[in-house]
Amino acid sequence: MFKKLPGDEAQHLVSTTPDTAVVFRPAVLRTPAIVTIIIFTWRLLAGIVRLLWRHPIASAVVTVPCALAWLHGWQWGVALIALVLVGLTAWALVDRPSFARLLGWRLLAWWRLIWVYRRHWQPVMLISGLGRTLKGRDYVPHLVKVTCTSWADLVTVKMLTGQAVKDWSDRIEHLAHGFGATSCRVTIARSGRLLLAFPRRDPLATPLPALLIPAVASVGPVEIGKREDGSPWRLKVHGTHVLVAGATGAGKGSIIWSTIRGLLPAVRAGLVQIWALDPKLMELSFGRALFDYYAADPAACADLLEDAVKVMQERAGRFAGVQRNHIPTVEDPFVLVVVDEVAFLTAYQSDKGLKVRISAALATLTTQGRAVGVGVLAALQDPRKDVLSIRNLFPDKIALRLDESEQVDMVLGDGARDRGALADLISPQPDLGAGIAYARLETSPEPMRARAGYVSDADIRAMVATFTADTLPLPLTEEVA
Ligand SMILES: Nc1ncnc2c1ncn2[C@@H]1O[C@H](COP(=O)(O)OP(=O)(O)O)[C@@H](O)[C@H]1O
Ligand SMILES: [Mg+2]
Repeated sequence: MFKKLPGDEAQHLVSTTPDTAVVFRPAVLRTPAIVTIIIFTWRLLAGIVRLLWRHPIASAVVTVPCALAWLHGWQWGVALIALVLVGLTAWALVDRPSFARLLGWRLLAWWRLIWVYRRHWQPVMLISGLGRTLKGRDYVPHLVKVTCTSWADLVTVKMLTGQAVKDWSDRIEHLAHGFGATSCRVTIARSGRLLLAFPRRDPLATPLPALLIPAVASVGPVEIGKREDGSPWRLKVHGTHVLVAGATGAGKGSIIWSTIRGLLPAVRAGLVQIWALDPKLMELSFGRALFDYYAADPAACADLLEDAVKVMQERAGRFAGVQRNHIPTVEDPFVLVVVDEVAFLTAYQSDKGLKVRISAALATLTTQGRAVGVGVLAALQDPRKDVLSIRNLFPDKIALRLDESEQVDMVLGDGARDRGALADLISPQPDLGAGIAYARLETSPEPMRARAGYVSDADIRAMVATFTADTLPLPLTEEVA
């Protein structure tokens, strides 16, 4: 039946070792053709059943029109396909979000899996060094699945046994370029599994205008911008301290002002006081009317900080043994100390006495202020240790555009850049990059990319005008949905 059966060649192979006369002749057991045929048929059937079981929808898409065409004529098959296509197009046009959620992203994920990831998987893994060739066999990490969101492909992979997350985070550039993305973010899905995020487009590429002032007075996380996945970026200020680092023109002002803007209703309700320190006299002087205290020259700044320490200590004395957490009230409002360009007060301060007073007050506030309702929001250009030795006392850190790659880990902590916080690669062009930041929150080691809303001078003027006019309600309030 077959001209040649597997094993026929082996039967005629003769091998000898060069120095002896021993001849090896492989033992060959002839398999009857019928056994081979049965095995192959069985494999085919099992394959078909597995295909139907694993991909019921895809199988139906192919078989139903074919069956219809076979039973009733090809016109019926074509008509069915046309009908389904028209139906899907109508759905996509009428209700795009539900179409995308239920079908669109899945179809895209399937296409991206086949066309991008599976096609390039083997070469990218081997060349980047994430796969190995041992004794002629390729060991390549397993591509588990691809899902799509509106902005990125999320690829789940099973690492090779013995690999570490660092092996992957060291190669994010190889992965990004290998799969045609601009960047790659690595997160741990669970033990042995990673989630790689490859952005398809940058949802933060266009500047975001100032957000609407919230309708409700709250000190809860303040909405200050938009995250990469489209959800709001909420910055927690009550119960923590926030350090914002960024080169000149990176948009430190937009984070400070967006926060102040979001707190405005609470300020008006008396639940929050903003104490502003503006050593460069440029950023905050604009909105002096909004602040309970304002200081610009270093001596006044030192006094202001020491006053904040006094408030803190007085509260600590009162709260001791009564309550462990601060709840903002009109009697004991949350005090947010906002410091622009903090290095002007610490590292670059020529008056030794003032420098010591300011550093001591800042260190006291950041170590003990959390629980009694005193928070610090500080902005800084140069994150080197000698510039701000109290850097590590800020639990939450935000890195805007930075000048050097080493500065990223200085701000966000070790390994943040390897995990994808590429703050040094943010565009220096204001419309493309200003206000874009990577934040690392206390609760998660993964850096989060987001863009703050840009509060323009006109916005600040409007805020001051409505705030000082003291007419309720604020005209810019969001409609309560
Ligand atoms: N969130 C933002 N979105 C778009 N553009 C911004 C944003 N923040 C700042 N910019 C632009 O960048 C410029 C510098 O911002 P600024 O806050 O003064 O930087 P920094 O205080 O970090 O030196 C602004 O004049 C503005 O044109
Ligand atoms: Mg500034």
